[in-house]
Amino acid sequence: MNDMRLPPAQPGSARSLLRLLTCGSVDDGKSTLIGRLLFDTDNIPDDQRAALERDSKKFGTDGANIDFSLLVDGLEAEREQGITIDVAYRFMATPRRKFIIADTPGHEQYTRNMATGASTAQLAILLVDASQGLLTQTRRHAFIADLLGIRHVVLAVNKIDLIGFDQARFEAIARDFASLAEQFHFETIAPIPLSARHGDNVVHRSARMGWYDGPTLLEHLERIEPGIAASGPFRLPVQWVNRPDASFRGYAGTIAGGAISTGDPVIVAASGRTSRVARIVTADGDRAAARAGDAVTLTLDDEIDISRGDLLAAPEARPEVADQFAADIVWMAEAPLLPGRPYVVRIGTATVSGVVSKIKHKVNVNNFDHLAADSLALNEVAAVNMALSVPVAFDPYTGNRRTGGFILIDRLTNATVAAGMVRHPLGRATNIHRQALTIDRAAREARNRHRPAILWFTGLSGAGKSTIANLVEAKLHLLGAHTYLLDGDNVRHGLNRDLGFTDADRVENIRRVAEVAKLFADAGLIVLVSFISPFRAERRMARELVEPGLFHEVFVDTPIEICRQRDPKGLYRKADAGQIRNFTGIDSPYEPPEAPEFHLRTETGTPEALADAMIAALRDALGFAE
Ligand code: ADX
Repeated sequence: MNDMRLPPAQPGSARSLLRLLTCGSVDDGKSTLIGRLLFDTDNIPDDQRAALERDSKKFGTDGANIDFSLLVDGLEAEREQGITIDVAYRFMATPRRKFIIADTPGHEQYTRNMATGASTAQLAILLVDASQGLLTQTRRHAFIADLLGIRHVVLAVNKIDLIGFDQARFEAIARDFASLAEQFHFETIAPIPLSARHGDNVVHRSARMGWYDGPTLLEHLERIEPGIAASGPFRLPVQWVNRPDASFRGYAGTIAGGAISTGDPVIVAASGRTSRVARIVTADGDRAAARAGDAVTLTLDDEIDISRGDLLAAPEARPEVADQFAADIVWMAEAPLLPGRPYVVRIGTATVSGVVSKIKHKVNVNNFDHLAADSLALNEVAAVNMALSVPVAFDPYTGNRRTGGFILIDRLTNATVAAGMVRHPLGRATNIHRQALTIDRAAREARNRHRPAILWFTGLSGAGKSTIANLVEAKLHLLGAHTYLLDGDNVRHGLNRDLGFTDADRVENIRRVAEVAKLFADAGLIVLVSFISPFRAERRMARELVEPGLFHEVFVDTPIEICRQRDPKGLYRKADAGQIRNFTGIDSPYEPPEAPEFHLRTETGTPEALADAMIAALRDALGFAE
């Protein structure tokens, strides 16, 4: 899957820029509308214009007339094969304004495309076919536009010619939409009757709807004042610290909200340290003031500790700082979202590790029903709780889309897997403080006369994990080590008896065991963990819970045919007979380790020999006192 694409930067000009999103499908006439807009505003180069006239005669669906959809349909066709999740960005300029049009397909399987396009748009054109009225997909488009924070909507009631320019029908559709929109947060809704095919009320005023005295689509797009982020409190997510020499230290980034002048006080959100703005340096030299959208480097009066990912803010309107928050997310990956699985969370300029700690509900995007869920599939939308590895600064998305929006990135593939909107911080973490303990690791190590460790055995059911782990533990015991063996089958009878074998349950199974292993290691024990633990992501999470060097991954590598022959618990027989579902290696995946500390090929050695080899290799690392 591709990364979420950011739209191209604003072409340099003093004319104001409007970013808009078009929502609708080919059937609604979306391509025709965009083609018509570009054509009637002279945004089509001459050669393309000539080609269009030629092609329209050959392939057009509109007789001798120009088929405007040919201008944009090529891309659409490519996308409808599901090749990419790109959003097509089209540029348009008139003497009054410049426009970036994010064009996304309308079907439900393109919800992630729409969300991507909507994340930066200020206005959405929701296209409806006048002869059909509001459809399920109109509801979905309105919902996503609202969720992604778009506050201005044009209801483009297209194909008005097909209903004989009927004012009553148009008004009924506008009323239907107004009542649908009551649950949303749109500030302006402009219903416009138009015909993209014939050009009525797109750029040129229609002579055929005397009853309509509102603006044409273009007039509306040129006039709308979508409100500027500059009206909110000052926010500067620090992109990088510019320190060319000891005499200069500047904090560079794009202002994400409000305005700033030299002499203004600022606060570093996470640390609470304050200072004042000394200089505002830009590509065109120093300035006395700057505002949202400007790329600046600030220098401050005081030397305070600020690094990439920090958020500089107005002290009188501080952002939230928390490591847990409630959010809405749109899931954009083929692989499902699994609560508890760690992802990279990028919020503002901060990059941290985090998990979805809970899916509160997913939303049926067509009728807005709330549904229980323990995982999310591609294009699903849900209300979730997030838990991060460290506190970060942010705003609720409704207050600032730049500081309140985030993405989740898969740690193995680097793909963007979700777009998120922060709702509010969760207070639950704020009143729980870590207790400083008197007896520490060093004290326990001295008493035990060896270092703690986690020996994490992974492999298929029947691979021999427990057999070898047992032997290793017995040998460590003889050496005088303090040990404990956590075994999947046993832990699943107690701590994890509420969990089954779905992917989501396995993730939670491993998360809990990893936390327990961490506590036992902290207690000074050599912990042996014997779980299938089929997923790389969770084994990596377990590794990263403890300090480097403490975690040893042991891959008990037995081909599945041999596990099946051995079948110590008769489970393969049952799974093959269809009596057990989600069985690892059969209808549930196993992801072998890529770089385990120990790779035990059970075909080439007895358990005894493999255990001895492990002990020999571990003796030094565990620092046994002779
Ligand atoms: S894990 O995948 O979540 O790590 P775990 O190691 O706790 O699995 O449990 C695996 C044990 O549960 C197996 O050794 C087997 O005895 C039993 N088991 C029962 N059903 C299944 C199943 N569907 N898949 C794998 N193991 C199963």
